[in-house]
Amino acid sequence: MKIEEHASLTALNTFGLHPNARVLAEFDNKDELRALLHRYSGERFLTVGEGSNLLFLRDFDGVVLHSRMCRARALKETKDEVWIEAESGLRLDDLIQQLADMDLRGLENLSHIPGTVGASAVQNVGAYGVEAKDVIETVRAIAVQTGEEVTFTNADCCFAYRDSRFKNDWKDQYVITAVTFRLKKEGGLRLDYGGLGNAFEGRELSQLTPLEVREKVIEIRRRKLPEVGEFGSAGSFFKNPVISPTCFEALQTQYPAMPHFDTSDGVKVPAAWLIEQCGLKGCQHGGARVWDKQPLVIVNAGNASAEDIRLLAEKVMKDVSGRFGITLSPEVNYIE
Ligand code: EPU
Repeated sequence: MKIEEHASLTALNTFGLHPNARVLAEFDNKDELRALLHRYSGERFLTVGEGSNLLFLRDFDGVVLHSRMCRARALKETKDEVWIEAESGLRLDDLIQQLADMDLRGLENLSHIPGTVGASAVQNVGAYGVEAKDVIETVRAIAVQTGEEVTFTNADCCFAYRDSRFKNDWKDQYVITAVTFRLKKEGGLRLDYGGLGNAFEGRELSQLTPLEVREKVIEIRRRKLPEVGEFGSAGSFFKNPVISPTCFEALQTQYPAMPHFDTSDGVKVPAAWLIEQCGLKGCQHGGARVWDKQPLVIVNAGNASAEDIRLLAEKVMKDVSGRFGITLSPEVNYIE
C-alpha cells in the first residue's frame, strides 16, 4: 500500500494535465482496499486506472484510489472456452497480449486501447465491432460503504455503448477488483468492422490468429490515433450519436453522403464525419487541438489547460449542433 498526500496525478491522466489529489492511495490487495475505505470513510473517492478517459477540471479534493492488483489466472476450462480472471489494475492491453500469446480469442480487437481491466468494465470499451461486454462474464468489486465483496453478472452491469451501471446508479459505490472474461480457444475472430476485414483480404478467416488480428488493429490505430506518449488525449472525446430514423432521413436529404450505421436504438452517425464537415479538423484553442487524422479526438498539443480542452469541446458541440441539430455527448468523464 502507498499513501501520498497532495499527490500529483500527472501520471494518472493521459491528457498530460497536472492536477493534484488531496490523497492518492494505491492498494495491492482487497484487504488494503478495505482498510483504505475504512480509514477515509465519508470522504469523496475516485477510482482511477490509467486515467485514459478522464478530464480533471481542477485538483481533486478527495481520495484517489489506484489498483496495483495486476494478476491474471485461468479459472476454468472446457473443450472450447477458457475463463480468465484478471485483476483490475492490469493494463487491458497487457492482458490482450498475454491472451493472444495463448491463442485465446475475444479481446484482440480491443488491442492498444489505453486503460486498465477495471476501467474496461466501467466504460464497456469497444473497437472494431467488439465491446468488452461481449466477453465479460462477471465483475468482482468491493462496496465502498460496507467493504463487502460482491460479484456481478454481465446482465447485472447493464452494459451499453460506452456505458454501464458503474457510471450511473452504482457510480462511486463500488471499487472493481477483478473481471472474468470468457474466451474462445478456436474461431471467434470478428473482422466484420470496416477496414479490419479488408486488411486481411485473400486470407482464410480460419487460418488467422488473434495475434495477427491484434497486430493489424495496432497498425490501424497507430495510423489514426495519437500515441499517448507523444500527444496527450483520451481517445475519442465524444460518443457517436444515435439519432431517430426520422431525424436521419431529414438529414440525409440534405447530406446524401452522410455515413451511417443502423442499430437497434436508431441510426448511428460517426461524430468524426460531423466534426470534419464543420471544418474543425486541426481547430485549436489554447493548447488543445482537434486531431487531424481522427477529429473525434482532442489532443493536448502542448501545455493545454483543462479549460482549453473543455472550451474546445464546447465549440465542437456548438458547431455540430448548429449545423446538424445533433447534440454530441462527451465520452470523456469530467472530474470537478
Ligand atoms: N470519419 C470521417 N473523417 C475522419 C475520420 C472518420 O468522416 O477523419 C468517419 C468515416 O465515415 C468513418 C467513420 O467516421 O468510416 C468511423 O471512423 P472510425 O472507424 O475511425 O471510428 P469512429 O466511429 O470514429 C469508433 C470508436 C473508437 C474505435 C473506432 C474503431 C467511439 C466514440 N469511438 O470511432 O474508440 O477505436 O470506432 O472501432 O465509438 C475510443 O472510444 O476512445 C475510441 C478510440
